[in-house]
Amino acid sequence: MPPIISIRGVTKSYASGFQALKLVNLDIDKGEIFALLGPNGAGKTTLINIICGIVTASAGTVTADGCDIVDDYRAARSMIGLVPQELSTDAFETVWATVSFSRGLFGRAPNPTFIEGLLRDLSLLDKRNSRIMTLSGGMKRRVMIAKALSHEPQILFLDEPTAGVDVELRRDMWNLVRGLREKGVTIILTTHYIEEAEEMADRIGVINKGTLMLVENKHDLMKKLGKRQLTLHLQTPLQHIPDELRFWALELKAEGHDLVYTVDSADSVDISALLKRLNELSIVIKDLQTHQSSLEDIFVNLVTERT
Ligand SMILES: Nc1ncnc2c1ncn2[C@@H]1O[C@H](COP(=O)(O)OP(=O)(O)OP(=O)(O)O)[C@@H](O)[C@H]1O
Ligand SMILES: [Mg+2]
Repeated sequence: MPPIISIRGVTKSYASGFQALKLVNLDIDKGEIFALLGPNGAGKTTLINIICGIVTASAGTVTADGCDIVDDYRAARSMIGLVPQELSTDAFETVWATVSFSRGLFGRAPNPTFIEGLLRDLSLLDKRNSRIMTLSGGMKRRVMIAKALSHEPQILFLDEPTAGVDVELRRDMWNLVRGLREKGVTIILTTHYIEEAEEMADRIGVINKGTLMLVENKHDLMKKLGKRQLTLHLQTPLQHIPDELRFWALELKAEGHDLVYTVDSADSVDISALLKRLNELSIVIKDLQTHQSSLEDIFVNLVTERT
């Protein structure tokens, strides 16, 4: 199946001369949830805004379901929904009017039943006749989502959808995203909450200083870069690691009080052999701790290593 979004050689230099994107190539598959991770200023919003036709690329091409986003702007834009990072809505309009109008902008025939269902899914139905300015921040964000979905797009961009929203809205949002995915909608999101990407995404892209550093299936990424660690707190500190233990990847930490055993996530290990050996050497373990590296550890390593 051809990719639903194809990004080729995209660069962006803003008028200030600042280069926000450097030769980005990326394909997004139909129906996947793709998470774009990167620190502040990495270029995430710039890339999304280029695909959505809000920012013009300095070089390169982007197609959405085969339509060039510049030459075939209308067709490309009609299949895309965007929930922007910055909230911007018409304060004086009602929820209903704003969402219905948004659908009309994309040339879609009015469909009150659809809009009603959308507002219900986003717990906004009781606010349908309220002016936007009377809503709370979280409700305004829900309105932005309703607007982005008003024309039933095949591709949805969520730029930091859960920044500053409460736990309940975040949960609702993820349920909504899962529901959309089940309907075949492709979802591209940016987030600073790595656990969110870890839970939701099929694939992860890491961007830093305008360069897409890595694109990988989430499970492969965890397997490849993830590590597991077993820390054994010793009864009596060791001066050095005994020769008999040289077959294990061990390190002494905390002035000899901790024996740390690190393994790659992909390896299968036999801890019992190590414990047995320690027992034979009369090394007494007071307590133990295990740690599995999260996507966050992997991400921080990647972004700091290569800067
Ligand atoms: N209109 C603009 N003019 C000049 N520079 C800009 C403009 N918009 C963004 N930039 C710069 O481009 C870089 C990338 O910005 P962008 O908004 O894409 O980052 P981001 O990854 O979305 O960051 P954040 O996580 O903070 O949202 C930043 O250094 C930013 O200052
Ligand atoms: Mg941004």
